[in-house]
Amino acid sequence: MVNRWYNIAADLPYPLPPPRDPDEGESRIALLSRIFPQALLDQEFTAERWVTIPEPVRGAYAKMGRPTPLMRAEALERLLGTKAHIYYKYEGVLPVGSHKLNTALAQAYYASIEGAVEVVTETGAGQWGLAVSLASALFGLKATVFMTRSSYLSKVQRRVLMEVYGATVHPSPSGVTEAGKAYGGDHPGSLGIAISEAVEYALSHEGRRYLPGSVMEFVLMHQTVIGLEAMGQLPEGPDILVACVGGGSNFGGFTYPFIGAMLRGEDYLKVRFVAAESAAAPKLSGGRYDYDFPDTAGILPMIKMYTLGRGHVTPPIHAAGLRYHGAAPSLSLLRKIGVVEARSYGQDEVLSAARLFARAEGIVPAPESAHAVKAVIDIAGEAPEGAVIAFNLSGHGLLDTDAYAR
Ligand SMILES: Cc1ncc(COP(=O)(O)O)c(C=O)c1O
Repeated sequence: MVNRWYNIAADLPYPLPPPRDPDEGESRIALLSRIFPQALLDQEFTAERWVTIPEPVRGAYAKMGRPTPLMRAEALERLLGTKAHIYYKYEGVLPVGSHKLNTALAQAYYASIEGAVEVVTETGAGQWGLAVSLASALFGLKATVFMTRSSYLSKVQRRVLMEVYGATVHPSPSGVTEAGKAYGGDHPGSLGIAISEAVEYALSHEGRRYLPGSVMEFVLMHQTVIGLEAMGQLPEGPDILVACVGGGSNFGGFTYPFIGAMLRGEDYLKVRFVAAESAAAPKLSGGRYDYDFPDTAGILPMIKMYTLGRGHVTPPIHAAGLRYHGAAPSLSLLRKIGVVEARSYGQDEVLSAARLFARAEGIVPAPESAHAVKAVIDIAGEAPEGAVIAFNLSGHGLLDTDAYAR
C-alpha cells in the first residue's frame, strides 16, 4: 500500500508557469483560497517531491479496494497476433468504477477537516461527480454536482447513483447560476461551463468548497497512487506507457512516477509516454500552448496549457470525460518539451477497439479509457517483438452501455 503521493514539480526541468490574472477585472488568484480547501492550494504549489498521504485517506483507499490489480492482457495479445507484452492497471474495481475516487477521497478529507459543510463540483460522464458523491458521504459532507446536460440526459444511471450517495445533481447549463443562465435550456453543456457554474455556486456561500476532477496539479499528484502501485506490480520494465487524456489526471497519475525517475536519470530512460485523446478535443495534438482560462466563464485564473480555447464547444461525444478544452500545466509542459507524445482518435474506432478488448479480456472499458485501448492496439501493431506496453484502464463502461448501443 502506497503511503505517499509523488509531485512531478520537483523534477521538471523547468519551473511550472504560475497561474496568472488577466489584464482586466478583479484578481482571480485572490479568489483561490475561497474556492479550494487551503491544504489543496498548498499542495498545488509545493516543491516537495513526496507528500505523505494522511492516515484517514490511506484507510479509505484500503477500504475502497486499493491497491488495484495490474493484469497482463494475454488474450488480447493473441487476438492481435502481437509479440508485444501488454499489461493494464485496472482502476474500474473501485466502487465508483473509475480512478476519480483517488483524488475525491483526498479532497473531501481536506475539505472536511477545514470545516466545510458542502462540496461542489462539475461532471461530464458522471464519473467525477459519482466519486465526489461517495467521498463526501464517507467524510460527512453534502455534495452538489453540475452535470453537463448531454450526460445528464444520457447517463441516467450515474446520476441516480450520485443521488443514492446523497448528492444533489443539476443539469448544466442550469438555472441555478448566472454562468448557467447565459445559455439556452437545450445547450448540451460542456465541462468548461459546468466548472464555471460549480465555482460560482461555491463562492456564493462560505461553507462551500469546490473540488476539481482534473487539471489541477494536486489532482494529478493524488492520482500517482496508480503509477506508484504499478511500478511495484509490473513484472518487467515497460517500454511504452499509455493513458487517455481528458484534463490529464489518470495520465499523470499513471505515468508521472515513471517520468520522474526518468527525469532524475534513475530509470525508465528509454520509455515512451503516449497520451491518447479524443479527435473531438485534441488539445495536445492540435491545440496551442498558451495562457487560457480553465473554465468557460473565466472565473478562475489563467493557466499555461495546451488549449483549444475556452470557448471550444466539443460535440457531445460518448467519452464525455474527454470533452475538455485544456490539459494540466505539467502535462502540457511535458508535451511541449517532447517527453510526452500525443495521438487522437475518433469515437467509432475507439469503441471498436473497446469491443475487441471486452471480448478478449472480459472487461468493458469506459469510453474514455477505450482511447488508451485503441492507442495500445495501434502501438502493439508497430512495436518490436517483446516490447512491453502498459496502459491505464481508468474505468469500466458498465454504466456507458448507451454509448455502446449507439
Ligand atoms: C474513466 C475516465 N477516464 C478518464 C477520464 C479523463 O479524465 P482525466 O484526463 O482527468 O483522467 C475520465 C473523466 O471523466 C473518466 O471518467
